[in-house]
Amino acid sequence: MEICVIGAGYVGLVTAVCVSDFGHNVRCLDIDEERIEALLRGEVPFYEPGLAELMKKNIDKNRFLFTTDVDLAVKGAEVVFIGVGTPMNPEDGTVNLDYVIQAAKDIAPHLSPKAVVVDKSTVPVGTARMVKSILLESGVPESVEVVSNPEFLREGSAVGDFLHPDRVVIGSDRVEAAEILKRAYHPLVENGIDFLVTSPEAAELIKYASNAFLAVKLTFINEIALLADAIGIDALEVAKGIGLDKRIGKKYLRPGPGFGGSCLPKDTHGLLHIANTYDCRMNVVETAIEVNDNIPAILAGRISTALGGLQGKKIGLLGLAFKGNTDDVRYSPAIEIAKELVKGGAMVTAFDPEATKLAKRVLGDSISYANSPEEALTGADAGVIATEWVEFGEIDPSDIREWMAGDLLADFRNIFSPKAIVSAGLRFIGMGRQG
Ligand SMILES: NC(=O)c1ccc[n+]([C@@H]2O[C@H](COP(=O)([O-])OP(=O)(O)OC[C@H]3O[C@@H](n4cnc5c(N)ncnc54)[C@H](O)[C@@H]3O)[C@@H](O)[C@H]2O)c1
Repeated sequence: MEICVIGAGYVGLVTAVCVSDFGHNVRCLDIDEERIEALLRGEVPFYEPGLAELMKKNIDKNRFLFTTDVDLAVKGAEVVFIGVGTPMNPEDGTVNLDYVIQAAKDIAPHLSPKAVVVDKSTVPVGTARMVKSILLESGVPESVEVVSNPEFLREGSAVGDFLHPDRVVIGSDRVEAAEILKRAYHPLVENGIDFLVTSPEAAELIKYASNAFLAVKLTFINEIALLADAIGIDALEVAKGIGLDKRIGKKYLRPGPGFGGSCLPKDTHGLLHIANTYDCRMNVVETAIEVNDNIPAILAGRISTALGGLQGKKIGLLGLAFKGNTDDVRYSPAIEIAKELVKGGAMVTAFDPEATKLAKRVLGDSISYANSPEEALTGADAGVIATEWVEFGEIDPSDIREWMAGDLLADFRNIFSPKAIVSAGLRFIGMGRQG
């Protein structure tokens, strides 16, 4: 099939690479010229394990075209995926649909009459119909179908998630359009992946409801961890006991510094606003957001208490990305913890294997940046683990003790066992675990 993908970000590029691996010819369009230039040099413009290799494999098979030319990208394509950003409007938490609207206007003059336009971006209920109206107003024939096909991949394991999804959701009023999309995804059909065909509106809500559920589950275990800390017991034991109940499940029950990233924060807010449009209130989700927003300050407060105040203290921060295996710092709890520590008067030096460049854009020179965990921790009064990079867990806690001037290690990702930290002569504070 001839396929076009609009937007070469985490979702767009992964979609483009994976569907080309399914055997289709793919043209991938972005308005960001630098991004397209990097892709034309064979470079992936962000950190995503396994993506560069799969991209190279399919470029070598001549199945790929990267371009900023919308006509070249869209002309003759049977399926046009829209994978542009839908960020949160910072002033009111609503979903910014400007990029989706612009993309619809951009592609309209170049669409073939039988094309299926696929909303892959996370968009509020009603957006597929809105995109269809934009196309119709732009003179696109009625035969062009707009389908909602939300994406559930996670950064850090995006390629595997795309190739082995739990389910594929297709929101479409017309069976034919859903069938064309199934052809685009043929290996997933052959592998017996569940395809759920719904109305466009249900598909749009499924995405927000899924992310809100995950955010609530994470926040629930974080509140249990705060309670476990107050009682003085191990929240991981509690999480295990809860997760073994199959009705609940083990996943998303790891206590930590709160949910972040490009999806859960904006999508929980997005759901509140969708509900608001229909005069409904999502009290559970509203509370999860509030609890989550408070966690970085609670954790910085714990460090402050253990150090007898933050003013003038040197703190080595390991991790800036919102989770391990990604360079994404959007709504990262690590960034929020850094801000809280700086607000309290601490001098923070941070190390992240991949996210420093993007973190600098947010934190600027309010903190210093190191090139290794050792450099970040040398001479520090306290060390803080804020992102669960595997390599942090490979550090010997006795090295940390040697590097630091002080003896406090805050492991908010539960990378180490508290026993290992205490045995190395360090004081431990964590999230749901006792030293
Ligand atoms: N990142 C994730 O883990 C993830 C997972 C599931 C769903 N989503 C959703 O997917 C969508 C995209 O997210 P992302 O993280 O990939 O965004 P991103 O910011 O990484 O990428 C968006 C890309 O779209 C490009 N773009 C914007 N307008 C364009 C236009 N008119 N034509 C061509 N290119 C254009 C931008 O230049 C950018 O490269 C969002 O709605 C997001 O909520 C993201």
